[in-house]
Amino acid sequence: MGSSSMWMRLMLPALLVAAMEAPVAATLTLTPGCVDRCGNVSIPYPFGIGKDGGNDCFRKGFEISCVNNSVPVMAGTGTSPNLRVLNLSLSPHPMVRVMLPVAWQCFNATGTQIGTFDGGVGVNPEGVYRLSSDLNQLFILGCNTFAYIESGVSPPGSRYNYQVYTGCVAYANDAGRPQDDACNGVGCCSVGIPPGLTDNVVNFRNTPTWSHADQEFCPCDYAFIVDKGYYNFKKDDLLHMDVNRTSMPMSLDWAIRENGSLTCAAAASSPGYACKSVHSECFNSKNGPGYICNCTKGYEGNPYVVNGCTDIDECARPENYSCRGECKNIDGDYKCDCRAGYTSPNPYTESCNPKFPLPAQISIGVVGGILLLAFLSFVIIIRKERRMRHELYRKNGGPTLEKASIIKLFKKNDLTQILKSSNIIGKGGFGEVYKGLVDGVPVAVKKPISGNHMESSQFANEVIIQSKVIHKNIVRLIGCCLEVDTPMLVYEFISQGSMDDILHGGEKKPLGLDARINILAEAAQGLAYMHSQANTVILHGDVKPANILLDDKFVPKISDFGISRLIARDNEHAASIIGDRTYMDPVYMQSGLLTAKSDVYSFGVVILELISRKKATHRDNNTLVNSFLENHKKGKKSTELFDTEIAEGAEDLLQNLAELAIKCLELEVDQRPTMTEVAEQLVAFTRTHQV
Ligand SMILES: *[C@@H]1O[C@H](CO)[C@@H](O)[C@H](O)[C@H]1NC(C)=O
Ligand SMILES: *[C@@H]1O[C@H](CO)[C@@H](O)[C@H](O)[C@H]1NC(C)=O
Ligand SMILES: *[C@@H]1O[C@H](CO)[C@@H](O)[C@H](O)[C@H]1NC(C)=O
Ligand SMILES: *[C@@H]1O[C@H](CO)[C@@H](O)[C@H](O)[C@H]1NC(C)=O
Ligand SMILES: *[C@@H]1O[C@H](CO)[C@@H](O)[C@H](O)[C@H]1NC(C)=O
Ligand SMILES: *[C@@H]1O[C@H](CO)[C@@H](O)[C@H](O)[C@H]1NC(C)=O
Ligand SMILES: *[C@@H]1O[C@H](CO)[C@@H](O)[C@H](O)[C@H]1NC(C)=O
Ligand SMILES: *[C@@H]1O[C@H](CO)[C@@H](O)[C@H](O)[C@H]1NC(C)=O
Repeated sequence: MGSSSMWMRLMLPALLVAAMEAPVAATLTLTPGCVDRCGNVSIPYPFGIGKDGGNDCFRKGFEISCVNNSVPVMAGTGTSPNLRVLNLSLSPHPMVRVMLPVAWQCFNATGTQIGTFDGGVGVNPEGVYRLSSDLNQLFILGCNTFAYIESGVSPPGSRYNYQVYTGCVAYANDAGRPQDDACNGVGCCSVGIPPGLTDNVVNFRNTPTWSHADQEFCPCDYAFIVDKGYYNFKKDDLLHMDVNRTSMPMSLDWAIRENGSLTCAAAASSPGYACKSVHSECFNSKNGPGYICNCTKGYEGNPYVVNGCTDIDECARPENYSCRGECKNIDGDYKCDCRAGYTSPNPYTESCNPKFPLPAQISIGVVGGILLLAFLSFVIIIRKERRMRHELYRKNGGPTLEKASIIKLFKKNDLTQILKSSNIIGKGGFGEVYKGLVDGVPVAVKKPISGNHMESSQFANEVIIQSKVIHKNIVRLIGCCLEVDTPMLVYEFISQGSMDDILHGGEKKPLGLDARINILAEAAQGLAYMHSQANTVILHGDVKPANILLDDKFVPKISDFGISRLIARDNEHAASIIGDRTYMDPVYMQSGLLTAKSDVYSFGVVILELISRKKATHRDNNTLVNSFLENHKKGKKSTELFDTEIAEGAEDLLQNLAELAIKCLELEVDQRPTMTEVAEQLVAFTRTHQV
């Protein structure tokens, strides 16, 4: 998923414009100052860590502590085996995965209990959780063992003491009976979890009926709740389970359950109503009382914060929102139509075909014998195809490129092996990217959908620029194929995907401080190189994390030159302003005059994203950039914005980086440093840091 989105962005301008509104990560905190992750786990509100400006970042009952700045645990749970959080999610189901310790008891040969732990960790300090009945299972291991879990004290006068019970019996006569992978009552039993369970404390039955004397082959009993499908019974576990180190992943359902656990109907008019976003809706909880919130159809994000649900750009995700024609995003929905001259019974699912005049088809059928016609068509098609290929080759500038350029011109047949659907690594409404090998070298082939013509001037731009710049921090264009309707481009394959994916992708990868400074320094060198070309200054025009790819050693490579300009030729003025507004120089936006300092501005935003690991987006008034600028104006350090993964002990360096970024963001263009100066400064930081 991560790398496919990067390859989509590597594709040409048409796609770029559509992808401008990149999907907002579903992680949103209460205020921008609240930390949005701990270690690998993103922490969306109502969950939260600590305070921002004196106010809690979490809703009551949803506090997370970030131990050692890297391990999230549920605040208020048992102290010594504190409940570690693996994952939090708001949608599609409100859920928390935690690591639960195993409950156990052990006996000596005469059947005296020599140790026990009931598994209790206070899983539910504020009552917001239910042990998920859909996702979990209770396992009990032992050879003469009955154990169960109960929860929810019944009102006086009820038939049973508790409202919910679950448990089972595990039994085995001798060591030979239990079998691996068979949790069928022999040495191991397993049972489902009823809805409403609030606790995991295990009761082992220890009456004489359940004696453990003479059971050296099975000295301990174990009991745990675990995600379905995670645990597989092994008979050795009866002897060797290391209870002090074993814990099991378990899923908890959560809901808003304060003040007598209101339903949606009652909560909507109460002061603490949790569904804050305009585009959110309320559902009564399915496991226990209370309610949950969801973004409405066509929106995604965080329904629990104001403006948290944002429009989904369906057109940027063709794998989930089909459209075989031209896709247009609208607020909360999208439209799909065939372009002029084409038709389809349902452009959402069926392809658009040209509107052939019917009479022509009929007359052909009447005149020709079918066989003859087929034969003739065959011959004609073959000749036409050959002629067309040649014509396209000429039209797309083949002869010129042949003479002038050092890139390779591929024949259509050279690439047919690669252009198979199993090789697709990225796909958008505007075309596909394939991964393949050319002469043993991994490459990425961009193939725009035919009929969706890239402007020929932009194509030429990309080819000419790319063949001029050869630098280790710029993605290398290996060649192109012109014998097709819409020319295809062949690039070196960059393994790690884009900086954007690495920073904000679904599964955020750790990225150390050294690596980050190095990425910035080298990316700046790549851009500085472009800006300082001898004869023609090359401007990128769309510098952003999605256009900085990283190879397997995290060396950055600038990509996507579809809207770059050779200013010596183009006289600087853009006919229309394209690019990503989040990173766009406001001066350029106003004047339409692209300068080297516009790239410097965009790079400033890139620096801020890399040191904060927060996504800049113009749709929230560019909170990220503004937060840094405000701190700067007040003469305050921006410590609270730094990514906690790298901040420790490096605040001064990060502050220096932030200051450099702020210089790049100056509205007075002349005050901004040049790209070369930025690169030099960053290289200096690399040195000082590593010494
Ligand atoms: C982050 O996740 C990776 C892979 O899932 C894991 O190996 C690593 O230990 C995790 N890091 C932290 C700090 O939890
Ligand atoms: C936090 O760090 C301390 C010292 O390095 C270590 O003893 C402790 O186990 C860590 N806690 C967690 C939850 O990783
Ligand atoms: C966390 O949960 C989300 C949503 O259910 C899922 O996509 C993601 O893979 C999970 N991550 C981990 C590390 O389990
Ligand atoms: C909430 O939204 C998600 C994604 O749109 C959907 O999968 C889920 O079923 C919704 N939940 C409810 C309770 O409707
Ligand atoms: C088991 O423990 C009991 C109580 O400490 C003791 O009396 C008995 O001798 C022990 N049995 C063995 C076999 O160690
Ligand atoms: C588990 O820890 C307890 C106390 O911390 C210790 O007495 C016991 O021997 C340990 N058990 C194992 C199997 O390591
Ligand atoms: C619960 O009640 C308290 C006091 O009446 C009120 O301040 C709070 O906002 C209420 N919370 C919700 C979720 O209604
Ligand atoms: C979106 O598409 C991806 C890739 O085909 C798929 O894995 C995922 O489940 C889809 N999501 C939804 C909500 O349909």
